[in-house]
Amino acid sequence: MTSSTAARARARVLDKTRVLVFALKAGGTAKTSSCTSLATIIAQRGYRVLVIDLDPQCNSSQVLGYSTFRDGQLGITDVMKEQAELKDVVVQARYQVDEIDPEDPDAAYELIENLFIVPGNIDDPDIDEAERLLNDHRNADSYWIRDGLAAMDGEWDAVLIDCPATYGRTTVTAFIALDKAVDGEVLPPVLCTFKEAGALVRLEKKLHEIRTQRKYITKGIAPEVKRILACAAPNSSYGTKEHFKTLAELEDAYGEVLLPLVHWSGEMPKIYRDDCPVPIFAPNSMPAQEYNKVATALGFERRT
Ligand SMILES: Nc1ncnc2c1ncn2[C@@H]1O[C@H](COP(=O)(O)OP(=O)(O)O)[C@@H](O)[C@H]1O
Ligand SMILES: [Mg+2]
Repeated sequence: MTSSTAARARARVLDKTRVLVFALKAGGTAKTSSCTSLATIIAQRGYRVLVIDLDPQCNSSQVLGYSTFRDGQLGITDVMKEQAELKDVVVQARYQVDEIDPEDPDAAYELIENLFIVPGNIDDPDIDEAERLLNDHRNADSYWIRDGLAAMDGEWDAVLIDCPATYGRTTVTAFIALDKAVDGEVLPPVLCTFKEAGALVRLEKKLHEIRTQRKYITKGIAPEVKRILACAAPNSSYGTKEHFKTLAELEDAYGEVLLPLVHWSGEMPKIYRDDCPVPIFAPNSMPAQEYNKVATALGFERRT
């Protein structure tokens, strides 16, 4: 190793950053709900938090204040095209509190302290072309997220990555940001239906495939599922026999690694109606309280 590669290798160590990758190849399993809720709670507890929205649906961007971009605003596709660095497109998360004045649209928003996002622009014609953009602009191993995080070393206590429901190149580049120097994990949310139970097995297979590739082994890249988050869990007011059965099976199979349950709640879908994360618009609601317990279980105690 030359001295400059040694210096680069050292720079990759994200001393203080925890990285959580929300991924599962199954649509609508509470990846975005969990990512935005936990990011907000962790930020409220005094940590500096960055969300990276990798999903072309751009739902995390919507919930954290960027359903529309201002003229000239950069987003995730500009990073994919190598026209911007990850750090250049970071903006502060926010939610709308007033009518938009076209002269000064930003004035309508309240900023969320400690919470930032690399947003995706749903109106960008390139947004659905992530895999092609990465192929055209980034080299085969595509360490852009890993390197982009390293370039911001020390700036974030936690980075939460919201993935699309595929294991295409975009998601894989989030997985390979998890090397031994990073305190991170792939955190799959599941919705207590049989579809997600099967998807968990496939996620393990995919991660095993990555962990056993020589090119990744030599770099110490080892993405792992350490914990699983069961969401929209059935309770006395919601759930069919099938939901209860699947929950019991999940508890049997993964009991030790299951995080505290987040139960079904009618509050949760409102994040998309209000463009606002649940711990802000309904801080005392059941899901906000339950995600608070999840944040504690993940080790994010309130900072004084
Ligand atoms: N705890 C919950 N209670 C009720 N509905 C939920 C809960 N968590 C998520 N949902 C709903 O499930 C659907 C999928 O959630 P979302 O977070 O968008 O999933 P993904 O990002 O995996 O596609 C949404 O309609 C969302 O409102
Ligand atoms: Mg989503």
